[in-house]
Amino acid sequence: MKALITGGCGQVGSHVAENLLARGDDVLSIDNFATGRPEHLTAQDRLTQVEGSIADKPLVDQLIGDFKPDVIVHTAASYKDPDDWYSDTLTNAVGGSNLIKAAKENNVGRFIYFQTALCYGLKPMEQPVTLDHPIDPDNSSYSISKTVTEQYLRLSGLDYVTFRLANVIGPRNVSGPLPIFFDRLSQGKQCFVTKSRRDFVYVGDLARYVVKAADGTGHGAYHFSSGTDVAIIELYDAVVKAMKLNDYPKPDVRELGPDDAESILLDPSRTFRDFGDVDFTPLEETVRRGVEYYAEHGVHGGYTHLKHEEKK
Ligand SMILES: NC(=O)c1ccc[n+]([C@@H]2O[C@H](COP(=O)([O-])OP(=O)(O)OC[C@H]3O[C@@H](n4cnc5c(N)ncnc54)[C@H](O)[C@@H]3O)[C@@H](O)[C@H]2O)c1
Repeated sequence: MKALITGGCGQVGSHVAENLLARGDDVLSIDNFATGRPEHLTAQDRLTQVEGSIADKPLVDQLIGDFKPDVIVHTAASYKDPDDWYSDTLTNAVGGSNLIKAAKENNVGRFIYFQTALCYGLKPMEQPVTLDHPIDPDNSSYSISKTVTEQYLRLSGLDYVTFRLANVIGPRNVSGPLPIFFDRLSQGKQCFVTKSRRDFVYVGDLARYVVKAADGTGHGAYHFSSGTDVAIIELYDAVVKAMKLNDYPKPDVRELGPDDAESILLDPSRTFRDFGDVDFTPLEETVRRGVEYYAEHGVHGGYTHLKHEEKK
């Protein structure tokens, strides 16, 4: 199989690429290294790496026209700066529409997308959130611009799967609390922990199911979620444990900010029905692998699309 992976040097993209390459597939990665790093993909025969942006329509048309992928795995996303609407719309909306148009013109058989659970709004009307929950993305530039591409996919008539995700973590994770906790704790700095709960899933688990989707399983929207959530303090404790810290500053436990959600718990029942049961990696093991990665490669990022988290 031939797979075009956008954001192939990011957390999710690189794990999917490794799985496909390991079984002998051909992979073409396009990445502009906004948040990904070139060393996340090891050079090998069946891998072609292009440095460039999916917002560059002539480049996207040329790559898809020449490579003629069987599947596009579209992980590239912009989210680094909540006020940078320009970059978010260019990558998340224009980039997405470029890929979908080129996929249609070149008869690409499958398209796999990754949507944010923030598309349901900051205060979802139900817990767990079902796939029928109204779409209400106007809480962030990231969420608005990510939703556009999911809507273009529906419009396109392509055979697609969109995985709606809450929190995917593990090695190469550059956003959210895991890299921030590691970074601050390794400098002996205090962390703040909000009184929220999240469902953290291991990137390697998601990558296995993306390969199944690339092979033809599933149609439409899915939640890749364990269906249970943990308090952020439990993630923090797992980081402390994985770092083997005995002496560290106690965290500052804070109330939720105005643009934060108390819990984002997604109903995974359709995923289990169509893809089979998922053997989720436990949180402690997931965090241990993430910490191992940061210890070796350092922390790059610690990005968040939530404004109040910036004021640390
Ligand atoms: N990680 C999560 O918790 C989470 C939650 C919800 C949704 N998602 C979605 O899942 C996908 C993968 O997330 P991730 O954790 O791997 O993020 P990531 O930041 O690790 O990977 C994104 C990759 O896209 C690349 N990229 C950004 N702009 C680009 C552009 N214009 N052209 C080409 N490449 C570009 C980045 O350099 C990076 O390598 C994203 O679409 C994200 O919106 C992730």
